[in-house]
Amino acid sequence: MQRLDSVAELRATVAGWHRAGLRVGLVPTMGNLHAGHFSLVRAARERCDRIVASVFVNPTQFGPNEDFARYPRTLDADAQGLAEHGCDLLFAPAVEAMYPFGLDVATQVEVKGVTETLEGAFRPGHFAGVATVVLRLLNLVQPDVALFGRKDYQQLLTIRRLVTDLGLPIVIADVPTVREANGLAMSSRNQYLGAEERDRAALIHATLQRMRAAVAAGEPAEAVERAAAAALEAAGFRVDYAAVRRADDLAPAA
Ligand code: PAF
Repeated sequence: MQRLDSVAELRATVAGWHRAGLRVGLVPTMGNLHAGHFSLVRAARERCDRIVASVFVNPTQFGPNEDFARYPRTLDADAQGLAEHGCDLLFAPAVEAMYPFGLDVATQVEVKGVTETLEGAFRPGHFAGVATVVLRLLNLVQPDVALFGRKDYQQLLTIRRLVTDLGLPIVIADVPTVREANGLAMSSRNQYLGAEERDRAALIHATLQRMRAAVAAGEPAEAVERAAAAALEAAGFRVDYAAVRRADDLAPAA
């Protein structure tokens, strides 16, 4: 596996693959890779001849009180895992390569609508940061396919909107969430949790499953949301939202 931090070398390598008629897949990540990320690489293998994975802890998607400084950075272990899973190229740029004029004056893209609710309402600027860095990665790599996890479903919808609105000739493929044995979705941030908290966090998945079953059984959305928030709070969670939404645009269920 090649390992690059230079935009020029990345472009030259991928251009060579395209000239040879090869199909290129991109797996964008912030590193600290786990089985969820490797399932994206495996899915890319099924669709593409060459795979680029990026590792970049993107400062613009973290709020001022979020965990940018302590976000786990494990590049050598990530490189080893990617190589073992058949990745062809690891692109791990410096902040200056991604934001050449500096963070304060960087051009931003903002996807409207789907970003304004749920996570977007609690993390102002988060999805603009995600959309901006993903657009730049898509422009730099120019993949045929880019792959994202369903775990970050609002992010996935945001990126689909971005690509469709801006007319990018790239397929956005989604890959199922990979879970721990207790149902907790795998996430780099799970390592912030102690053993007891990890056990308790399994209740999130169990609650979501109960919500789905209740909606399917015809219970009104508001009652389902209230019951879910109450169950989580009773177990010690501070709930930002437990919401029933339409899958295609995140609008409240009718
Ligand atoms: O899902 C992530 O890891 C990040 O939000 C992404 C898509 C790599 C953009 O920084």
